[in-house]
Amino acid sequence: MTATLRGASVAHARRALAERFRAAGIESPELDARILTGHALGLDHAGLASAASQQISDLTAAQIERFAVRRVAGEPVARILGEKEFWSLPLTVTHAVLVPRPETETVVELALDLLDRDGARARALRIADLATGSGAILLALLSELPNAHGLGTDIDAEALAVARANAQRLGFAGRATFLAGDYGAPLGGWFDLIVSNPPYVASSDIATLAPEVRDHDPRHALDGGADGLGAYRAIAADTPRLLKQSGYLVIEIGAAQERAVGDLFARAGLAITAARPDLSGITRAMAAKLR
Ligand SMILES: C[S@@+](CC[C@H](N)C(=O)[O-])C[C@H]1O[C@@H](n2cnc3c(N)ncnc32)[C@H](O)[C@@H]1O
Repeated sequence: MTATLRGASVAHARRALAERFRAAGIESPELDARILTGHALGLDHAGLASAASQQISDLTAAQIERFAVRRVAGEPVARILGEKEFWSLPLTVTHAVLVPRPETETVVELALDLLDRDGARARALRIADLATGSGAILLALLSELPNAHGLGTDIDAEALAVARANAQRLGFAGRATFLAGDYGAPLGGWFDLIVSNPPYVASSDIATLAPEVRDHDPRHALDGGADGLGAYRAIAADTPRLLKQSGYLVIEIGAAQERAVGDLFARAGLAITAARPDLSGITRAMAAKLR
């Protein structure tokens, strides 16, 4: 492809890339081609449009080719860019973290709704994000809650380094602390809000996931144990020790896990108070309080 792109215009390079992605069966060929061509040139959407007739350099043609090979091999665009937008925040992602998903924004929305009902947005809230990964949920909440402080935990030290770098990059380092450990184990004291998007795929289902997920997200970010519910048991056990009586636990769940998670929370002394569907209509976020 480098040879065919040599001397090509920006618009031609973008169209050729889209064509190649379409032929490879990639779901969003135009969008992926636009993003990757823009990334190779250091241009955003508007910049790409205004540079449409300019000729690309050999260096850029080679860069586009490298991106094309990775994308055609199934690597998600966010992994090629090393960045993913979540709640309108640009987050760095590496091989150590799950690429934050749009449906996880449902957790942020439900948590903010509950705080709004209590008129609590401006309070000096204390938030815990268990299994924080890139820090996505915690940093989104800090962006909306000006007086909140948060603690994020993760079992993976490399993921925590990514979360710390994201907090620094976004200007939240003074309000976010990241600790290594098992869900709530490293934490103490009382929290107004505990959030989590833990691993929740049953171990035996991992082989059936889309290759973009199965082959690129870290296995320990997906694997929820034999029945997919291992993390919820740990979080349910931690919550009575960490959640204020007035506080909320807001978690992401997988498709069809609502009942099982509700049952195990009930056994741990938690009452489900709200649930929220994602854009596909699947119940994605659940909120609980201490009974
Ligand atoms: C599904 S990812 C979610 C990451 C982030 N919260 C998000 O929504 O993008 C789950 C995270 O759980 C972490 N994890 C796995 N086992 C854990 C454990 N026992 N304790 C804490 N974190 C764990 C993984 O390293 C991964 O970062």
